[in-house]
Amino acid sequence: YSKKEEKMIEAHEFAADFYHHLLMNTEEGEQALNYLLKRGFTKELIETNGIGWSLPTWDTLSVLLKRKGFSLEEMAECGLIIQKESDHTYFDRFRGRIMFPIRDENGKVIAFSGRIIDSVDEAKYLNSPESPIFHKSQVLFNLDKARTTIRKKRQVILMEGFMDVLAANQAGVYNAVATMGTSLTTQHITKLKRLSEQIIICYDGDNAGWEAAKRASEMLHSERLKVEIAVLPDKLDPDEYIRKYGPENFVQQILDKPHAYIAFMMMHARRNKNFQFENDVLQYIQEVLEQLVGRSSPIERDLYIKQIASETNISEEAIYAQFRKLEAN
Ligand code: GTP
Ligand code: MN
Ligand code: MN
Ligand code: MN
Ligand code: MN
Repeated sequence: YSKKEEKMIEAHEFAADFYHHLLMNTEEGEQALNYLLKRGFTKELIETNGIGWSLPTWDTLSVLLKRKGFSLEEMAECGLIIQKESDHTYFDRFRGRIMFPIRDENGKVIAFSGRIIDSVDEAKYLNSPESPIFHKSQVLFNLDKARTTIRKKRQVILMEGFMDVLAANQAGVYNAVATMGTSLTTQHITKLKRLSEQIIICYDGDNAGWEAAKRASEMLHSERLKVEIAVLPDKLDPDEYIRKYGPENFVQQILDKPHAYIAFMMMHARRNKNFQFENDVLQYIQEVLEQLVGRSSPIERDLYIKQIASETNISEEAIYAQFRKLEAN
């Protein structure tokens, strides 16, 4: 980091402490604290993550930053405050939100995500903007804390939401990370690769989660990482699942029973298809074979083609013939 960036980080650390103090020790923070406790956060989890609360006032942080001697121009550049077009005065970006510090790999606060308590028509989460210290396409939430466990277990769990990562921590799962609401990038993958060869994707169980898991696993697979997919039922996300079924069940039934890459692709291809309809059957076979081409060993091929045959009532020979045709192209 440059001198200027160090200042920006110092301001983020200061803001994080201030937000955390408001949450833990003031009447203004009570509603937010109760919300978190009701969601199953322990005080310990709130402490170790430095979670906080921003007042619904317009410029409390701006005034404090100025008093501390920070350059307000720089504070606007790193997104803590915003300059008004009209009179060039500054106001706080985060107002009336539960504040989740986002840290770099060394544990320094480089950004925030703020959640509103009861969403009316505002966005549920507000993130810091791209800045000299915060590059969304590179940051993995919780990587600073998860790193040791990832190395030790030689396995990383990738989730969709940082709330899910926090719920996993609460459940005793310490090797989980999440992107900051963006899809997985090659920069994220480079970081993960350095720590572990084995990745378990555990995204939300809704449609968006299935699609995101497909894209992410394709990327990881083609980067030659060992990727497996832990699938959640009933459109639940990891946080909701843990609250509904408990931590032990989450570990034993979900995390310890992930699907192999191609098995997941078959499940994905089968979703929303009805094998009563021949078009669905044909499309299913085509989708799965395209996955098998160039990506599978002869044994996997045999295994999955047998499976497709028994699912669809098409002969193995015909499916093999189709496979060879695709492979030749
Ligand atoms: P909770 O509703 O608090 O349990 O959050 P969640 O983790 O279930 O969020 P969701 O599944 O809706 O979204 C997953 C991730 O997408 C979040 O962790 C955010 O990073 C991002 N995200 C979701 N909603 C918003 C939003 O309104 N704005 C932005 N910027 N990001 C969002
Ligand atoms: Mn930079
Ligand atoms: Mn979602
Ligand atoms: Mn979710
Ligand atoms: Mn959730």
